[in-house]
Amino acid sequence: MISDRKLEHLLICENYDVEFKNKTTGFEDVELIHNVLPEIDKNEIDLSTSVFGKKLDSPLFITAITGGHPVAKNINKQLAIVADEKNIALGVGSQRAACEYPELEDTYTVVRDNAPDCLLVGNIGAPQLNLAEKAIEILDADILAIHLNPLQESIQPEGDLDARGYNGLISQITDAVNIPVLAKETGCGISAESAEMLVKSGIDFIDIEGAGGTSWAAVETYRAEDKYLGELFWDWGIPTAVSTVEVTNAVNVPVISSGGIRSGLEAAKAIALGADAVGMALPFLKNSNSQDHLIDFINKFNDSLRLAMFLVGANSIEELKQSKIVICGKTREWLNERGINTQNYSRR
Ligand code: FNR
Repeated sequence: MISDRKLEHLLICENYDVEFKNKTTGFEDVELIHNVLPEIDKNEIDLSTSVFGKKLDSPLFITAITGGHPVAKNINKQLAIVADEKNIALGVGSQRAACEYPELEDTYTVVRDNAPDCLLVGNIGAPQLNLAEKAIEILDADILAIHLNPLQESIQPEGDLDARGYNGLISQITDAVNIPVLAKETGCGISAESAEMLVKSGIDFIDIEGAGGTSWAAVETYRAEDKYLGELFWDWGIPTAVSTVEVTNAVNVPVISSGGIRSGLEAAKAIALGADAVGMALPFLKNSNSQDHLIDFINKFNDSLRLAMFLVGANSIEELKQSKIVICGKTREWLNERGINTQNYSRR
């Protein structure tokens, strides 16, 4: 049953090694340029940003994690309390379970109850067009995310393998609902070409969820009886730094950089590469046993983002976006092969 699967995902992510083994996000190839004369006051740096009219105190999304199981209710409650206190955005996991089993609704309604003013992101799959309105209503969502995860579906024992017609379904969802619609991967990233197609289908917002953090081929390999394909494709996907550049170059909608981001320093690099905000899932799950741990994690994120901004002389997220940045190594090779001139980033 779908609810048992939600619990298995939580237990596997909390207790097993689920991150990429040999592939990284690529942020180690990306360097902001140190400035000995920043000419700004570190204490006055403004980390705030606005997303579809809502102000966030820092450019951070807790991306989709859970819901649909009684254990998930408590996790969502802790995340909601902390997201509200720190005024960051919060996504929930796939809402299919609650749309089909009303007794599970409170595992999602608990979020708005505890985060009355937060920017909340609902979550459905592309084939679940008929659930879109209901998912928005249950969560009182500000944004609806559609997850696109063909690798995960392929390794998941009960996965959906017929991906025909998704673009049409996405168009129907974006036409049907009256809030912004976001498209997200779950750790394989989004290419320039896919981003262009998504925006043509009416997508307002892209959360790239690139490779280098949680591998959903890995998570599903632990659940699968036959582990051959999951182990072979464990490290599949477009590294997060690469996907961030591809998507922000290709389309003109707001972009969340995510998938393996673990600190404000990586966030600063992602924003200088063109992202509007960053997202994280696994670190929030791992800290969700204590509100203090969650708050401490967010404070460390903000402190490290602020320090990176100080050291490049950026007073605001908009200024950070304009900062010069050098792209080296495999990330540069990949981007150059794809026709992107990486020198544009270092000679702004
Ligand atoms: C997820 N993620 C996810 N994404 C989604 O769109 N719908 C979902 O239901 C879930 N469920 C889920 C459960 C758990 C336990 C985790 C840790 C994650 C994927 C998540 O939003 C994100 O895309 C990836 O985990 C990559 O980001 P990190 O973990 O490397 O920061």
